[in-house]
Amino acid sequence: MSDTQKIGFIIGSLRKGSYNRMVAKALMERATKNFECTIIEIGDLPLYNEDLDTDTPPEAWTKFRKEVKGMDGIVFVTPEYNRGTTAAIKNAIDVGSRPYGKSVWASKPAAVVSASMSAMGGFGANHQLRQSLVFLDMPVMQQPEAYIGKAQDLFDKDGKLTNEDTGKFFDKIMDTYSNWVKKLT
Ligand SMILES: Cc1cc2nc3c(=O)[nH]c(=O)nc-3n(C[C@H](O)[C@H](O)[C@H](O)COP(=O)(O)O)c2cc1C
Repeated sequence: MSDTQKIGFIIGSLRKGSYNRMVAKALMERATKNFECTIIEIGDLPLYNEDLDTDTPPEAWTKFRKEVKGMDGIVFVTPEYNRGTTAAIKNAIDVGSRPYGKSVWASKPAAVVSASMSAMGGFGANHQLRQSLVFLDMPVMQQPEAYIGKAQDLFDKDGKLTNEDTGKFFDKIMDTYSNWVKKLT
C-alpha cells in the first residue's frame, strides 16, 4: 500500500448544476488527508462500440482507461434516471471494461452514492449500478448505504452543503470508505 491513496470520482450527471456533482465535491472535501481525490470526467466518451475498439481506439477511451487504471479506488455518484443509473455512467463502465480481459475496474474498491430530487434518493440507480460492479469484480462498500434524497434542499446556491446531518453522514461515508480502501489495497 502506498502512502497516498488515489481515489477517482465518477459522476453520472453531465449537467452543469448537477446535485450529484455537489455531492461528489462535498464527499471529496471530507476525504482523509492521505486520499488524493480526482473527478474523472465521462461526458466526452464516445458511446461504446466494439468496432472502434481496435489497436487505435478513440483517444478519449484511452485517456479514460489510463486514468481509471491509475486509481486505487473509485467512488460512483449517480443520479437516478428512470429507476436506473444514467447512460453516461453505464457507457463509462462499458468503455473501461474492454477490451475483453483488460478491464480497468477489476479489484478496485468502490463505493456507490446516489442522489436524486425524490425522497427515495436514487435507490434504483444505486442498486442497478451495483449489479454491474459485481460482474466487474469491484469490491463495493456495503455500509453505509448512501441514498441521498431531496438533494435540492441540501445545498446553497453556490453548491455548498448546508445540511448538518447530511454533512455528518458524508463524514461517515468517507471514513468507512477510507478504511475499506486501506484494507483492500
Ligand atoms: C431522464 C430523467 C429521468 C429521471 N428519472 C428519475 C427517477 O427515476 N427517479 C428519481 O428519483 N429522479 C428521476 N429524475 C430526476 C432526477 O433525480 C433529478 O433530475 C436530479 O436532479 C438529477 O441529478 P443531477 O442534479 O445530478 O443532474 C429523472 C431526471 C431525468 C432527466
